[in-house]
Amino acid sequence: MEKVANRVRLGLIVSLLFVCAFRSEISTRKILQEGDCNTHVRLRRSEQKVIIDNGLVEVTIEDPSGHVMGIKYMGMDNVIECRNPSSSRGYWDFVWDGYAFDKMETKYVEVVAHTDDIVELSFTKKWNFTTDYGKTIPLNIDKRFIVRRGVPGLYMYGVLERKEDFPDAQMYQLRIVFKLNADRFGFMAISDTRRGIVPRGDDRDSTRSQTLAFKEAVLLTNPSNPQLKGVVDDKYQYSCENKDNKLHGWISDNDAVGFWIITPSNEFRTGGPHKQDLTSHVGPIALSMFVSTHYTGIDIDVTYKKGEAWRKVFGPVLIYLNSASSDDDYRSTLWNDAKRQLSEEIESWPYNFTRSHDFPRAEERGDVCGQLLVRDRCLDDEPMQARSAFVGLAAPGNVGSWQTEGKGYQFWTQTDDTGRFDIKNVRAGEYNLYAWVHGFIGDYKLDLSITIQPENQINLGTLIYDPPRNGPTLWEIGIPDRTAAEFFIPEPDPAFVNPLCLDAADKFRQYGLWDRYSELYRHGDLVYTVGVSNYSRDWFFAHVTRNTGNSTNWSTTWQIKFNLQHVNERGNYTLQLALAAASNAELQIRFNNPDAVRPDFTTNRIGYDNAVARHGIHGLYRMYGIIVPGNRFKEGDNTIFLTQARSLSSFNVVMYDYIRLEAPAD
Ligand SMILES: *[C@@H]1O[C@H](CO)[C@@H](O)[C@H](O)[C@H]1NC(C)=O
Ligand SMILES: *[C@@H]1O[C@H](CO)[C@@H](O)[C@H](O)[C@H]1NC(C)=O
Ligand SMILES: *[C@@H]1O[C@H](CO)[C@@H](O)[C@H](O)[C@H]1NC(C)=O
Ligand SMILES: *[C@@H]1O[C@H](CO)[C@@H](O)[C@H](O)[C@H]1NC(C)=O
Ligand SMILES: *[C@@H]1O[C@H](CO)[C@@H](O)[C@H](O)[C@H]1NC(C)=O
Ligand SMILES: *[C@@H]1O[C@H](CO)[C@@H](O)[C@H](O)[C@H]1NC(C)=O
Repeated sequence: MEKVANRVRLGLIVSLLFVCAFRSEISTRKILQEGDCNTHVRLRRSEQKVIIDNGLVEVTIEDPSGHVMGIKYMGMDNVIECRNPSSSRGYWDFVWDGYAFDKMETKYVEVVAHTDDIVELSFTKKWNFTTDYGKTIPLNIDKRFIVRRGVPGLYMYGVLERKEDFPDAQMYQLRIVFKLNADRFGFMAISDTRRGIVPRGDDRDSTRSQTLAFKEAVLLTNPSNPQLKGVVDDKYQYSCENKDNKLHGWISDNDAVGFWIITPSNEFRTGGPHKQDLTSHVGPIALSMFVSTHYTGIDIDVTYKKGEAWRKVFGPVLIYLNSASSDDDYRSTLWNDAKRQLSEEIESWPYNFTRSHDFPRAEERGDVCGQLLVRDRCLDDEPMQARSAFVGLAAPGNVGSWQTEGKGYQFWTQTDDTGRFDIKNVRAGEYNLYAWVHGFIGDYKLDLSITIQPENQINLGTLIYDPPRNGPTLWEIGIPDRTAAEFFIPEPDPAFVNPLCLDAADKFRQYGLWDRYSELYRHGDLVYTVGVSNYSRDWFFAHVTRNTGNSTNWSTTWQIKFNLQHVNERGNYTLQLALAAASNAELQIRFNNPDAVRPDFTTNRIGYDNAVARHGIHGLYRMYGIIVPGNRFKEGDNTIFLTQARSLSSFNVVMYDYIRLEAPAD
């Protein structure tokens, strides 16, 4: 009975999604544009306001705070929420020190460009110890706004600076926030698969929803749109990796108008291509995230010390508006047009119309190219071409340090089928070159400091990555890809479905999957038998705790059973252990003796990435090469016991990327 009812509910949700789904034909011809694309850009100043207008869009910015108060587009007087105070419509903010929000209000405005083709405004503030210490984030702020002829949108970037004598500060989170007109924008689009009608902001109120395991996740009990009853909403379900976080936004069905955040480059984002962050979420809210601790926790470097000068340009990003005739398939038309605009922005990166000297143009940047090979003698005597490997330049540091690097610029690309890479438009500066290769464990770093100067073309030639390898493979579990995506991801509990995450590729984003473990492994923890089990069915995607109700010890121990016909007692075996995430966890490993008081190996307490609670399939990558003396094993059946020993909540977790047992080298 219950199952049938659940299936019916899921069916309803699926059909709801279909109603919302896009058709795939590209039909940008149907884009409507009111006004004249050739109108020159005009600037007006009135009391406490600066208004820029290019005939397509009219942007009103508060003087001198630099808050965006209004965007007038097509028939819409204000695309953003005019019922909010002016500081809560379109703004920059930083979270710093004791988790205090600073809305980065500025004191002066200057017109830095005003021609027929472009207006650029600069809103600035200099931090002053006497007046600002302990009150506002210790930063000099320059917020830039650009409107160009013929472009229905607003370019935004910021130049932020710390002087050497500024006090210590933790600067956790930097973003641009847009709160859109709540009566108009109801359809959200994050990617080709995640899009649909979402709840209103006030549907998340306690009278209309029930809070789930944490405040961000709610179950809608009485939403204004009855079709959304029983749906789960959590902003983290709309997260993206930096490399994919280029375009997201909202559609107003009343107006057939789209509001999009377009990010043509990742150079100013922190933590590299795989760091995940928020996009758009119920509100309706659209974010441009620049700095955050999401999916990394405090392992990412956001601590600034007195004596440390720093200056960085964030952006530009484009706030893009489009509209379609409402009788055709306007949702696809708008989404496809926004994608077209994204390509256009990427094509013209780095922009040549910005006025700040801190944003270098193409001719002030350099290129780095080369070829990456990977050598694993247990697989092939010859080095192999590293296909689709991620190769990047980031601040000098240790192997793998780019994923917790939070202050500088990073420039990443992927190799072609022959391992060749070309990193273009790199800002002048000092870097290390880092890489990782799909299918191989570990991280590559070139032991050479790379200095980029304007117009440098550096060819590094052929580079060879030797991934960790001590002996031939006895067995392996998973694929070295820095995620747990290839493991078993359970169906969500039908009572907790988010219809935007129904696509197979988004399954891991469903709410509450961590609790499915206790249901699926009711009678004992996971046991994986090498040669019999299949990791895509038999290896749960996260090593979670067991919810036993009121007991305080939710610790779980997984077993890997395998057979050794012959043991080299004097040799060393190696357990290559790659983790995809860790949160308040301690992974202990015991060989053949589950009761040993001291584990043979422990990671000790690791991780703050909270990837499981945030519906991520990975957090930070960690790699351990564990030496196992041959005398720990025996001929015949052996068992490796993996205990996640921290167990105070459902969110003490590790995720595995890949495990391999290597025999001693001959
Ligand atoms: C900082 O503010 C104080 C108090 O208003 C003022 O006297 C001082 O000149 C300011 N310093 C700078 C560098 O502007
Ligand atoms: C700026 O870039 C655009 C395209 O990216 C190009 O068409 C234009 O000629 C450039 N302008 C200048 C002044 O270099
Ligand atoms: C493992 O299971 C997956 C999913 O059921 C299946 O596609 C795959 O073929 C299986 N692999 C082996 C080696 O049986
Ligand atoms: C909770 O604890 C009580 C007393 O220790 C025990 O009788 C009961 O079975 C426990 N319930 C669960 C769900 O573990
Ligand atoms: C929790 O339980 C695990 C296995 O069930 C056990 O090994 C561990 O010692 C227990 N921890 C505590 C603190 O009781
Ligand atoms: C095995 O590893 C231990 C400790 O890492 C080392 O001291 C020993 O020499 C190794 N034995 C062999 C045979 O490599």
